[in-house]
Amino acid sequence: MAGHAQPAEDHDGPVSTIDRVVALQAQKRTLPPRERLERIFQVEGLDALYGGKPAVKDVTMDVYKNLVTAIIGPSGCGKSTFIRCLNRMNDLIPAFSQTGTIRYHGQDITARDVDPVAVRRNIGMVFQRPNPFPKSIYDNVAWGLRVLGLKDRLDERVERALTQAALWDEVKDRLKASALSLSGGQQQRLCIARAIAVEPDVVLMDEPASALDPIATSAIEQLMHDLKSEYTFVIVTHNMQQAARVADMTAFFSISRGDEGARWGELVEYESTEKIFTDPSDKRTEDYVTGRFG
Ligand SMILES: Nc1ncnc2c1ncn2[C@@H]1O[C@H](COP(=O)(O)OP(=O)(O)OP(=O)(O)O)[C@@H](O)[C@H]1O
Ligand SMILES: [Mg+2]
Repeated sequence: MAGHAQPAEDHDGPVSTIDRVVALQAQKRTLPPRERLERIFQVEGLDALYGGKPAVKDVTMDVYKNLVTAIIGPSGCGKSTFIRCLNRMNDLIPAFSQTGTIRYHGQDITARDVDPVAVRRNIGMVFQRPNPFPKSIYDNVAWGLRVLGLKDRLDERVERALTQAALWDEVKDRLKASALSLSGGQQQRLCIARAIAVEPDVVLMDEPASALDPIATSAIEQLMHDLKSEYTFVIVTHNMQQAARVADMTAFFSISRGDEGARWGELVEYESTEKIFTDPSDKRTEDYVTGRFG
């Protein structure tokens, strides 16, 4: 896997540095103009706080349907906090509060009368650390389907999800074995299979590949690529090459500092991935994607 590229000697200035970084992997994509893209989330003026202290402030961005959107930025800038807002996962943290609106297909999902379980049914999540249930491999994948009462063609649905998550061949002969007997990378692919088995609308992934080897990482990237006509993916990643490879749109978050050591994350720039990696508008984005910061 390529690291941060050094400035190209045969060019001048910072632009050539960026060229080198993305030349390795970035795929050319032609995105329709933004007004022609369908908005699945409309986030407006979102502040997310823990114990009254803001972790992210004033995030306004739209997430588009059937695209892969990457969230990048230095540790602590609020990437995980932000994507957990998208499926009400922060509700589970007692000290958490938020203001602003998040519309999902036009409906404000932050409203008190919205059932967070229903939200999470449509907006699945894969965490950085694999969290399989202490059940069999099969039962992990079948779990959500059973909860939803989808009992017909269960074997077929489980096989499909495991195949899509690039795990089927490794587990097809041991479906009754405990999920905890799998390696870390296999457990992560199992969690991805569990998330997609119920065919959600959106899949949020928080650094899903940090425990995976390059083969499994590439399989997961392929999965996102293949399935984005059916799903919408939002992925947090520290891996610039991964963002450049998989994402259509990229949002760069950074840390701002206030008085008395206050720190919070903010959205600096949100553009097509190609623009973020080849021609960012903000110096902070450029420094980050070229490896001069973070
Ligand atoms: N459960 C929590 N309780 C209190 N503060 C939290 C909690 N989770 C996150 N924070 C704080 O919110 C800020 C943003 O954290 P967050 O985990 O969202 O960052 P991140 O960008 O995902 O970082 P990393 O790249 O290290 O995963 C940090 O200052 C962190 O300490
Ligand atoms: Mg995080």
